[in-house]
Amino acid sequence: MDLLNRISELEGECLKAIAVATTAEALQEVDLKYLSKKGLFSECMKSLRDVSSEDRPKVGARANEAKTRIDAALTAKRNAFADEALNAQLQSEAIDATLPALRRPPGSTHLITKVMGELVRIFQRLGFEIADGPEVETEFHNFDALNMLDDHPARDMQDTFFVGGVDGKTAKATNQTGVVLRTHTSPVQIRTMLAKKEPPVRILAPGAVFRSDYDVTHSPMFHQLEGLYVNKKVSFAELKGCLLFFAREYFGPNTQIRMRPSFFPFVEPGAEIDVSCVMCSGKGCRVCKETGWLEILGGGMVHPSVFKAAGMDSRLVQGFAFGMGIERIAMLKYGVPDLRLLFENDPRFLKQFGI
Ligand code: DAH
Repeated sequence: MDLLNRISELEGECLKAIAVATTAEALQEVDLKYLSKKGLFSECMKSLRDVSSEDRPKVGARANEAKTRIDAALTAKRNAFADEALNAQLQSEAIDATLPALRRPPGSTHLITKVMGELVRIFQRLGFEIADGPEVETEFHNFDALNMLDDHPARDMQDTFFVGGVDGKTAKATNQTGVVLRTHTSPVQIRTMLAKKEPPVRILAPGAVFRSDYDVTHSPMFHQLEGLYVNKKVSFAELKGCLLFFAREYFGPNTQIRMRPSFFPFVEPGAEIDVSCVMCSGKGCRVCKETGWLEILGGGMVHPSVFKAAGMDSRLVQGFAFGMGIERIAMLKYGVPDLRLLFENDPRFLKQFGI
């Protein structure tokens, strides 16, 4: 009955080893040492062959009993370790739901967006509708169709971003369509007329424009609002009335406007339009350089060449157009002293105008 003793001995050793194991790895070693194929318990079982057939069931039963106990002890200990590990993890990941939540300050509308909306709403009351055009534009829409011919200075590399680095002249010489970042919102006039074909056209085109110009008072990307009204009969007086309405709605009921003859290739006659200074009401101050006037708009009557390029017959239609820079208007309206504040996007600046 040596084998019975050996079984009891192994069982005792093994249960003890399980009891003192302090880690899952240590348990695994016990498992290997006693229960694996080459483990001590298996070795011992091999001797079962030598036991008389009479005793064999008894010894076999005892061996099974020992094995079952060891298995149970191992499983219990393993589960205990797993529970411990899980508890430790849960503890380390525990969150305190009573702590105050992190603040996420709400965003706010950018001043440019806000001013754009304010301007658009005024013109919408006169029946203007929003129109859109691409920021990457063909030279045809941006220049040619607007009567800005090849030798126009605005087409120079100095002002215009040519997409793909091909300037207008090279593009023509090599029979390519010149592509530019639009330098103004006026090409939307052309796109709208080409699409609509018939009067009336009454559109507003707000958006970003690009010029290769960067200093304290210029940003290479800025914003304009373009207006275009085309009908069978349209007069210069209507342009004036429209802009006076806008100026008074936006800058106050006592605002005056003045139109000075000026030149833009796409209008004839063309004018620069001033409003009485919003700071000093025309008395003269630093902002208006003592003149009492602020130049804020360009405008005029649509040039026959523009109608022609846009597929309309200038004998049958008339129109006026105007364009203004949003940054300048925003700075005047809200007393922003430096253009760069509009592009640095410091939340302390932005949130003052947010809704
Ligand atoms: N496109 C001109 C510019 O970028 C602004 C302008 C002037 C637009 C006169 C017009 C206009 O529609 O009639 O400087």
